[in-house]
Amino acid sequence: MRTKEIYLGRVTLPNNIAMAPMAGYTCYPFRMLCQEMGAGLCFTEMVSANALKYQDRANRRLLLTTKDEKIRAAQLLGDDPRIMERAACGELLEAFDIIDINMGCPVPNVFKSGQGSALLADLPKAEAIIRACKRSGKIVTVKFRIGIREDEPVAAEFARMCEQAGADMLSVHGRSRSRMYDGPPCYEQIQLAKAAVSIPLLANGGIASIEDAEKMLELTGADGVMVGRYALEDPYIFARLTGRTVQKSRYTILTEQTALALRYYDEPFVIAYIRNLAAYLMKKQKGTKRYKQKIYQCSSLEELDMLLRAAFGEEEAL
Ligand SMILES: Cc1cc2nc3c(=O)[nH]c(=O)nc-3n(C[C@H](O)[C@H](O)[C@H](O)COP(=O)(O)O)c2cc1C
Repeated sequence: MRTKEIYLGRVTLPNNIAMAPMAGYTCYPFRMLCQEMGAGLCFTEMVSANALKYQDRANRRLLLTTKDEKIRAAQLLGDDPRIMERAACGELLEAFDIIDINMGCPVPNVFKSGQGSALLADLPKAEAIIRACKRSGKIVTVKFRIGIREDEPVAAEFARMCEQAGADMLSVHGRSRSRMYDGPPCYEQIQLAKAAVSIPLLANGGIASIEDAEKMLELTGADGVMVGRYALEDPYIFARLTGRTVQKSRYTILTEQTALALRYYDEPFVIAYIRNLAAYLMKKQKGTKRYKQKIYQCSSLEELDMLLRAAFGEEEAL
């Protein structure tokens, strides 16, 4: 696939292939893996701006980054422009180059509190949030869905508002809130959003292969693609999309991820993360089904390692 750089003011993305923000997965070690595989941009999982006033361990963990992460993007969730501004300007986000605003989360609690995808129905508030985050002086991007209901898409209008409010880039998940994560993306709505703005736009939803990514770019005119769930099953997708060769087995990935995670996180967190990642990686690995349940019964890293070694063996990467 032909890739291209994306210019966002003082930051240049080395390519137009991004890893989607994903709660429970896109912690620092996973973002480093995606970077190594070739992803040009990765985001932290969503972090609640309201919760950031408590500088607790959980928030620090979500916002952990180091200089080894070339481009640092944190995703904020919230509905109050003042609180969002405070979070964007705060100490915990100091190391980040990019603030991404979550305007797509469909989860009922989030939606009911006026955050995430609820903002698709409140353009003035969404605009005020973007303007507030821009006051941090950082690059501000917005990730949103094509609408709340399938029969009331708002992608173009929403994209236009974001650009006018000062957003530097958009990521559009081509499904409505009512569709959650099911079915193919709506290419037409992403295309309408792209046609409505002149800032870069990444298209997201259902990309599992080079063919899917090329189809997405062709049908939408988007500047790049963002991959979600399929990158958890198959992180090599970034190597294929960017034309790299990575000779690394899934087992090696898991041992490296464990070692990196242990440098920064406590053991219970590392066990939970590696179990979840291993379960996703097993989806694409034949003969691992019988190990899946057992993984969740492991309570120590030694036990987990023995099981992963048995499950993944010494298979070749790619
Ligand atoms: C487990 C899970 C966690 C997610 N967490 C976030 C999140 O924190 N922020 C966000 O903007 N989107 C989140 N998403 C949505 C993804 O970023 C992405 O938009 C969605 O999965 C569609 O892309 P895909 O079809 O390639 O998976 C999450 C999705 C899943 C399945």
